[in-house]
Amino acid sequence: MAMETRSVSLTQLTAWQALETHYQQMQHVHLRKLFAGDPKRGERFSQEAIGIYLDYSKNRITEETLRLLIQLAEESGLREHIDSMFRGDKINVTENRAVLHTALRAPKDAVINVDGKNVVPEVHQVLDRMSAFADRVRSGDWKGFTGKRIRNVINVGIGGSDLGPVMAYEALRHYSQRDMVFRFVSNVDGTDFAEATIDLDPEETLFIISSKTFTTLETMTNAQTAREWALKKLGDEKAVAKHFVAVSTNAAEVSKFGIDTANMFGFWDWVGGRYSMDSAIGLSTMIAIGPENFKALLAGFHEMDEHFRNAPFEKNLPVLMGLLTVWYADFFGAETVAVLPYDQYLKRFPAYLQQLTMESNGKSVTLSGARVNYQTGPIFWGEPGTNGQHSFYQLIHQGTHLIPCDFIGFAKPLNPLGNHHDLLMANVFAQSEALAFGKTPEQVRAEITPDWLVPHRVFEGNRPSNTLLLEKLTPEALGKLVALYEHSVFTQGVIWQINSFDQWGVELGKVLAKNIISELEGKADGKHDSSTSTLISRYRKLKG
Ligand code: F6P
Repeated sequence: MAMETRSVSLTQLTAWQALETHYQQMQHVHLRKLFAGDPKRGERFSQEAIGIYLDYSKNRITEETLRLLIQLAEESGLREHIDSMFRGDKINVTENRAVLHTALRAPKDAVINVDGKNVVPEVHQVLDRMSAFADRVRSGDWKGFTGKRIRNVINVGIGGSDLGPVMAYEALRHYSQRDMVFRFVSNVDGTDFAEATIDLDPEETLFIISSKTFTTLETMTNAQTAREWALKKLGDEKAVAKHFVAVSTNAAEVSKFGIDTANMFGFWDWVGGRYSMDSAIGLSTMIAIGPENFKALLAGFHEMDEHFRNAPFEKNLPVLMGLLTVWYADFFGAETVAVLPYDQYLKRFPAYLQQLTMESNGKSVTLSGARVNYQTGPIFWGEPGTNGQHSFYQLIHQGTHLIPCDFIGFAKPLNPLGNHHDLLMANVFAQSEALAFGKTPEQVRAEITPDWLVPHRVFEGNRPSNTLLLEKLTPEALGKLVALYEHSVFTQGVIWQINSFDQWGVELGKVLAKNIISELEGKADGKHDSSTSTLISRYRKLKG
């Protein structure tokens, strides 16, 4: 049974109203004052769990803010919603589906029922098949059609069937099999495919066609092109079985495409695309880092699941981070969140989080279909440090927008080189310090700055941030980090009373594009507004 939707609107909750009043007092309180008034603030507002240290002291909060935010979570029924998700209730009400990415990393002996059937044995069956296949490819036992060893793996997919695999491959490259090449094709722009294959030999290339539905236009187009590219050299339809495998929930479409379902790795409709990197969608990750490391990744996810499920809210990392996001989005009017990983291997982490956060919480009606009268999911963005510092940090420090930041850093580098790592980490700490405390006019003047220059060199400070500090970027740590954000997104969605697990907002564009394709090919004439019609006819004229 899905959870009952609440009849009381969010803004009528006692905690919400108390937060509105509390915000009036808090909006002008400076972090300088909060730190000066409490020498232990750094310890008081930090939390360590399962190897992640979260320092959230540089947020514009007091004990009272936290108390009210936690009360808001309680009044919103967060505890019941967490239980409901983990239990396999159909909380994705608009698609009538359970939401069970947590079952993908559940231990073998766990029991999680969907429609009266325990799904855990199937999850482990697929994992075992993936492991056996990954081992064969990694060891060279799985050969291409002409008997050559597979050296290149190309994942073809888009959205959740691409962003997770790309991010995880980049993040865990240090652990990857270095004599193999891993590439990712997502865009329907032919350049993506052309550049990914330009220097590869089809005889040594394996394509993983990853698509939950196996109907997505971009992926199907790229898969078809991959087939033609491979067969052009390999010559024989039978080669498809050696060079193509599929990851999907749709066996019928997979075999229609010509891939033997014996070479298909399944998953289930209760895994959302953006929550699927630890399902069979992670096959490329597993081939890259090996089954043991993949297991460690899953173990990391699971540890965070257990923490989220069991820790009291005031010690619960995803709950705290989720509530802070609500605090800034709804009371301070912050429109974005910057995620700033100080680790080059996490360079695709912000892009991954964009789908996770924005496809999940970019909603404007509640579960019961009413228009919300508050802000929901903020815009997530970011770049790895320190590059961002020399690009957009100016705006975060001195611009007019309030941008809460998440800094992510690791104590031990994977590539220790001279003093690089200390330099890197000094920047993490310096940035959050500068954002919080800024530089007063008095401090600027003391540096013998002429009066006219003072306002330009003042840093207001009072710009909030979280810092996540972990020991080392391992597969396990990555699993914990991803699950941390997954559950933070869930927490936010519960507070906002929205469905974080559908994505109707991407449908309209897909349908319209399908109609327009036949017009671009000159096969049909469509009715459009004057702007769209002119653009279509110009395009047709220009392309000749
Ligand atoms: O962009 C919409 C979306 O449905 C995403 O949610 C999903 O991750 C992506 O398309 C890809 O879908 P599929 O895996 O079915 O090809």
